[in-house]
Amino acid sequence: MRRRIVIGNWKMHGFRESLGELDALGRALRTAKPPPACEIMLCPPATLIAAFAGGAGHGPILIGAQDCHAEPNGAFTGEISAEMLADAGACAVIVGHSERRTLRGETDEMVRSKAAAAHRAGLTAIICVGESEVERDAGNTGHVLKMQIRGSLPSGATAANTIVAYEPVWAIGTGRTPEPAEIAEAHDTLRVRLVQQIGTDAEAMRIVYGGSVKPDNAGALLAIGGVDGVLVGGASLHWQEFFAIVSACPLAPAA
Ligand code: PGA
Repeated sequence: MRRRIVIGNWKMHGFRESLGELDALGRALRTAKPPPACEIMLCPPATLIAAFAGGAGHGPILIGAQDCHAEPNGAFTGEISAEMLADAGACAVIVGHSERRTLRGETDEMVRSKAAAAHRAGLTAIICVGESEVERDAGNTGHVLKMQIRGSLPSGATAANTIVAYEPVWAIGTGRTPEPAEIAEAHDTLRVRLVQQIGTDAEAMRIVYGGSVKPDNAGALLAIGGVDGVLVGGASLHWQEFFAIVSACPLAPAA
């Protein structure tokens, strides 16, 4: 059985005043009836990780990061290592988000090194994969996902230290989502590939969906077979919307 997780990715949004959002979300979660049926994680910009991780009274909210460097330290101006993120209080890090693959030219190999760095530092690696619109229209979604898993998953990846995020590139920030059957098929493809690659432990690895998750579609997305949670961008920026998504989580565990 896999416990669902709702992960918020703030991207390059948020300043110190955002601690108010975190406090309000924490209050809402503490008094929620029934209590949330899922794990909850926020990935603010790196500048806020320490403040968020140390924030009093934010209850069950885990704090993650959005990217890391592959090396533990060194002459890499402007970079932040996985060890530093752990030091700041993060318990996880997103790697291979499509914005970094596209805008920063990150390859599967780079993503794999970053995920390995996350594991080395004791962080959960949230490894993002997903097809572009062109790849989808050409009927290549399954092939692209398999190749990305093959290239991006480091050896040593386990259900305990890794989450896979299926994020169709064309669904991110666009308000469009795949049909439920397409999401189910993609998650199934990923699961089969993960089992081939690391064995039966992959049955317990969480595969979350990301791309235009909103309060009004979260319940339906989280009810799709094989969807073990969601990765939320825009709708995670306001605590009411994020709380509504968390509240849409089915009470029964996935699978
Ligand atoms: P979105 O972003 O929810 O704004 O589409 C998702 C993501 O990029 O992780």
